[in-house]
Amino acid sequence: MRSLFDQLRKQLARQRRRRKSIPPSPPTQEISMTTALVTGCNRGIGFQLCKQLAERGDDVIGVCRSESDELNQLGIRVISGIDIGRGDAMPRLRAAIGDQHIDVLVNNAGILRSDKLGELDYDEMMEQFRVNTLGPLRVTEALLGNLGEGSKVAIITSRVGSIEDNTSGGYYGYRASKTAVNQIGTNLKHDLHPRGIAVALLHPGLVATDMTGRQGIAPADSARGLIQRIDALNLDNSGGFWHAEGYALPW
Ligand SMILES: NC(=O)c1ccc[n+]([C@@H]2O[C@H](COP(=O)([O-])OP(=O)(O)OC[C@H]3O[C@@H](n4cnc5c(N)ncnc54)[C@H](OP(=O)(O)O)[C@@H]3O)[C@@H](O)[C@H]2O)c1
Repeated sequence: MRSLFDQLRKQLARQRRRRKSIPPSPPTQEISMTTALVTGCNRGIGFQLCKQLAERGDDVIGVCRSESDELNQLGIRVISGIDIGRGDAMPRLRAAIGDQHIDVLVNNAGILRSDKLGELDYDEMMEQFRVNTLGPLRVTEALLGNLGEGSKVAIITSRVGSIEDNTSGGYYGYRASKTAVNQIGTNLKHDLHPRGIAVALLHPGLVATDMTGRQGIAPADSARGLIQRIDALNLDNSGGFWHAEGYALPW
């Protein structure tokens, strides 16, 4: 028994000596700020992403076509007048960003048009491809020079883009535009991996925004989940298709 106490005493003394030998932390530590750029920032999920990222101290750049009062009240940097479906907007976006490094790029902007077999409007279908499919690729390509080792690209897609999960049909243009952006995201995963950039395809859930006629969960709850997924994104899990709640979705 005595030798056990001796042993414990010696261990304690060793621990105390070790603790003393750890140098104290410097009084101030340099904290590197994360810079996040979010498209479609003036309302809905994009607005909530900007709000929550700014609230936790990230340096947020919101990109939109037109500003909103609630966006302007956030006090973040806003680049307006950018239609992600138009190539001629990209030089303006690039000029506004300059050589600012971007840690997190969230391609959130998107549109949904209802359609019906027998009455399909092919121009509207093309419009959804222009915005939902080509938009995220266009913005990512335009900002490639601002991304680097450790950067992350999130694409807000939809589970309705999943072929396996399509049990009801309808929404020809929207579904196909999101399926195609999933392919784009998978390509980006491969092309950006050697540069140390991770990519995620994220479904926000059914969210109560203008897009859904305010049906679904609160945009704040969706944004919270999306931010958790982006935080957890790395090169090892790059290219996944996840629900904001954290589970993988079928392709
Ligand atoms: N809500 C849902 O349940 C749900 C489910 C699955 C996926 N999603 C996806 O989540 C993303 C955000 O949707 P949301 O629900 O927040 O929709 P929302 O409230 O309708 O907001 C859409 C955002 O995208 C912007 N946008 C649309 N077209 C644009 C363009 N050509 N150029 C630049 N910005 C454009 C809008 O800006 P303007 O004000 O200028 O139009 C707005 O900021 C979309 O990609 C959507 O497909 C949503």
